[in-house]
Amino acid sequence: MRLFCLVGYALAPLLASGTILQNGQVRDIVFPDTSIASVNSNSNWTSFAPNATEISYKGRWDSKHISWWSAPGLKFGFTGDKVAISFGQYTSPGVLIAYRFAGQDWLFTNVTANSTHQLIYSSTLGFNLTTQSQRPQTFELRVTNYAYGVQIAGIHLSRDAKLIKIPNFSKKIEVIGDSLSAGQYGTFEGLSSYAWGLAEGLGDVEFDITAYPGICLVDQDCWGNAHGQTYQWLRTPDTSSRAEVIYGDNPPVWDFAHHQQSDIVVINLGTNDNNTHNNVTNEKYLSSYIDFVGQVHQKYPRAQIILISLWNGFNQVGNTWQQGGAFVEEIQQVYAHYNNSGFVHYFNTTGILQHNDIGPQYHPTDVGHVKLASHLMQYIKLKFDWVFGATGPEVQADTLYWNDEPNY
Ligand SMILES: *[C@@H]1O[C@H](CO)[C@@H](O)[C@H](O)[C@H]1NC(C)=O
Ligand SMILES: *[C@@H]1O[C@H](CO)[C@@H](O)[C@H](O)[C@H]1NC(C)=O
Ligand SMILES: *[C@@H]1O[C@H](CO)[C@@H](O)[C@H](O)[C@H]1NC(C)=O
Ligand SMILES: *[C@@H]1O[C@H](CO)[C@@H](O)[C@H](O)[C@H]1NC(C)=O
Ligand SMILES: *[C@@H]1O[C@H](CO)[C@@H](O)[C@H](O)[C@H]1NC(C)=O
Ligand SMILES: *[C@@H]1O[C@H](CO)[C@@H](O)[C@H](O)[C@H]1NC(C)=O
Ligand SMILES: *[C@@H]1O[C@H](CO)[C@@H](O)[C@H](O)[C@H]1NC(C)=O
Ligand SMILES: *[C@@H]1O[C@H](CO)[C@@H](O)[C@H](O)[C@H]1NC(C)=O
Ligand SMILES: *[C@@H]1O[C@H](CO)[C@@H](O)[C@H](O)[C@H]1NC(C)=O
Ligand SMILES: *[C@@H]1O[C@H](CO)[C@@H](O)[C@H](O)[C@H]1NC(C)=O
Repeated sequence: MRLFCLVGYALAPLLASGTILQNGQVRDIVFPDTSIASVNSNSNWTSFAPNATEISYKGRWDSKHISWWSAPGLKFGFTGDKVAISFGQYTSPGVLIAYRFAGQDWLFTNVTANSTHQLIYSSTLGFNLTTQSQRPQTFELRVTNYAYGVQIAGIHLSRDAKLIKIPNFSKKIEVIGDSLSAGQYGTFEGLSSYAWGLAEGLGDVEFDITAYPGICLVDQDCWGNAHGQTYQWLRTPDTSSRAEVIYGDNPPVWDFAHHQQSDIVVINLGTNDNNTHNNVTNEKYLSSYIDFVGQVHQKYPRAQIILISLWNGFNQVGNTWQQGGAFVEEIQQVYAHYNNSGFVHYFNTTGILQHNDIGPQYHPTDVGHVKLASHLMQYIKLKFDWVFGATGPEVQADTLYWNDEPNY
C-alpha cells in the first residue's frame, strides 16, 4: 500500500484569491491593481479587436478568444508607450495573469470579467531602456491557473500606435499531462511547473502545455474530469467546469491543421489512472497508451515522443525513503511496442526527485519542478540537438532566494 493516495484530487478552488502560501505562511507578494476605466474610441487610445492578425496566441484558445489548459498566452509587438487589455465576460473571477515587457521579469496581476487593465506604462521597469536594435518592443501575457482562463475582448495602445506581428519560433514542444504538468500546488501554478521550466527554459521555442489536474490517460471520469486525454487532447478546451458551462458535453475539436505542429511531445500521464479510486485496469491503461501514442503521431507525424516514467511519490521504507512508481511495466511495454518506430523515447525520472522535493499535497515543490525541467532540457539537448535558448530573461518567477551571511 502506498502511504499517499492521489494526485490532483483538489480541482480548482471556487474563488481566486490574491494569496499565495509558502510552507503555510502567506508569501509576501503584492499584486498591483491594474484596472482602469473602460477605454472608448474617443479617448487617448487606439483599440484593436482580439482577432487582429498581429496578435499571436500561444497554447489553446477558442474562436471566442477564450484561453484553455495550462499557461496559455499571447504575444505581440507594439509602438507607443502604453498597453491595456479588455477582458471579456468569459474571464474567470480574479484570475492571476503573468505579463512582461520585452525581457523584463514577469509581473503579476489579477483580472476579472468585463474589465480593462493597463499593463504597460512609460514608467514600467525597463521601458525606457529599449535600444534601436531591440525594436519592436514586445508584450507577452500568460494565464497562471490551469482551471481559470481569460477572454480577450480588445487590446489598446497609445493614440496612433501600431500592433506588430512577432514571428513564431520555428520549433515547438508540447507537454501532455495532468496536475503534475499543470503545476498544481506550485507557487505560480502553470508558471512554476516543470513543463513551463522545460519549454520556457529551452527559450526560442513555441510550446503548448495540454495538462489538466486529475485527468487520466484512459477516456473515463477521473476525479470529476468527464474525459481522459485520449479524448480531451483532441478538443480545444480542457475538462474544467467553465468548459462545461460554455460547451456542455460537446467541446469543439482542436484544429491541428491550422496550428504549428509540435516537434517534441512529452507525455506524463497515468498517475491518476494508477489510483485505485479510478478503477483503471493495467490492461486498459496499456492499450489506451499505445493508441494515444498513435494518435499523437498521426497529428504530428514529424514529432519525437518522449514517455515520462511516473515517480508517483515516496514512501518511508523502514528507516529510509524509497521512490514509488506507477505502471512501470506498462510504460516499458508502450516503449517496446514502438521501439522500432524511431520516434518514441523513454525518460526515466528515477533519481531526479527525492522525498523532500514533494510537497504535502503530493506534488513537486518549486525546487522539484526545476530539477525535472533541468534534466529534461539536458536530455533534449543531448538527444535531439536542441539548444538552450533562454540565455538571460527570467524563466521561473520569485525563485531568487539566497544566503548573504557567510562564516557561520
Ligand atoms: C475580425 O472580426 C470581425 C467581426 O467581429 C470581422 O469583421 C473581421 O473581418 C475579423 N478580422 C479578421 C482579421 O479576421
Ligand atoms: C504564431 O502561432 C499562433 C498560434 O498558432 C498564431 O495565432 C499566430 O498567428 C502565429 N504568428 C505568426 C506571426 O505567424
Ligand atoms: C459581463 O458582461 C456580460 C454581458 O454584458 C454579462 O452577461 C455578465 O454577467 C458580466 N459578467 C460579470 C462578471 O460582470
Ligand atoms: C484581486 O484579488 C484581490 C484579493 O483576492 C481582490 O480583492 C480583488 O478584487 C481582485 N481584483 C480583481 C480585478 O479581480
Ligand atoms: C528609466 O526610468 C527609470 C525610472 O522608471 C529611471 O530611474 C532611469 O533613470 C531611466 N533610465 C533612462 C536611461 O532614462
Ligand atoms: C495621452 O497618452 C499619452 C501617452 O500615450 C500621454 O502622454 C498623454 O498625457 C495622454 N493625454 C491625455 C489627454 O490623457
Ligand atoms: C470503482 O468501482 C467501485 C466498485 O465497483 C465503485 O463503487 C466506484 O464508484 C468506482 N469508481 C469510479 C470512479 O468509477
Ligand atoms: C500501479 O502501478 C504499479 C507499479 O507499476 C502496479 O504494480 C499496479 O498494479 C498499478 N495499480 C493500479 C491501481 O493501477
Ligand atoms: C529497444 O531496442 C533497443 C535496440 O534496438 C534495445 O536495446 C532495447 O532494449 C529495446 N527496448 C525495449 C523497451 O524493448
Ligand atoms: C530507471 O532508473 C533507475 C535508477 O537508475 C533504475 O533502477 C531502473 O532500472 C530504470 N528503469 C528503466 C525502465 O530503465
